[in-house]
Amino acid sequence: MFGRQYPGFFITIEGGEGVGKTTSSTYIKSWLEQHGMDYVHTREPGGTPLAEKIRELLLGHSEEAVAASTELLLMFAARAQHLDQVIIPALKVGKVVLCDRFTDATYAYQGAGRGLSNEHIATLEQLVQGDFRPDLTILLDLPVVTGMTRVRQRGELDRFEQEALTFFERVRTAYLERATQFSNQYVVVDAAPALADVQATIDSILHRRLSVYAGE
Ligand code: TMP
Repeated sequence: MFGRQYPGFFITIEGGEGVGKTTSSTYIKSWLEQHGMDYVHTREPGGTPLAEKIRELLLGHSEEAVAASTELLLMFAARAQHLDQVIIPALKVGKVVLCDRFTDATYAYQGAGRGLSNEHIATLEQLVQGDFRPDLTILLDLPVVTGMTRVRQRGELDRFEQEALTFFERVRTAYLERATQFSNQYVVVDAAPALADVQATIDSILHRRLSVYAGE
């Protein structure tokens, strides 16, 4: 259905909990602005009114246990809507789309975290997005305990954040394995150093990957 046929550029930011995705997104947005690039910043699950409602269902607490396959299908339902309404239209007109999380999160959380099979995820991936994949995935990597300490300091935990450390260890391992497997798509950034160092790393990645778009 989709392919790498769009004039825009699709960047996703991934990582476990508390790795600093929001801070890095803010930095990337200011970089894109400074380089005169038209961009859309969005997130998953979410990014459209309907997909944000699905996000509330996914992240909120409920009396009823959520089956792993329900969670998986809701992630892809939100993604289908997001692709149709936001991501693809923006890429078609040549914008950079910066998205906090995408399908790699499904492999990490629903696959490695919940134990669903990669084959089932790949089937849904094919159904919803065909061959469409991010042009660049920035994986922010941090030891699980460090990230979770930050998250717990932020306050109330959502339905995912309250999972056990072992869940997030599986998530982290899966991300790192995917980064090795899809080395053309991924860049792994060590999120442990001081903020200025992390930003300098991201700056050099963006220069390398976006210089054509930035007219450099
Ligand atoms: P966040 O955007 O604030 O990190 O919260 C989104 C949560 O949803 C996060 O815990 C990861 C989870 N998630 C999945 O489990 N699967 C997915 O496909 C996506 C996009 C997110």
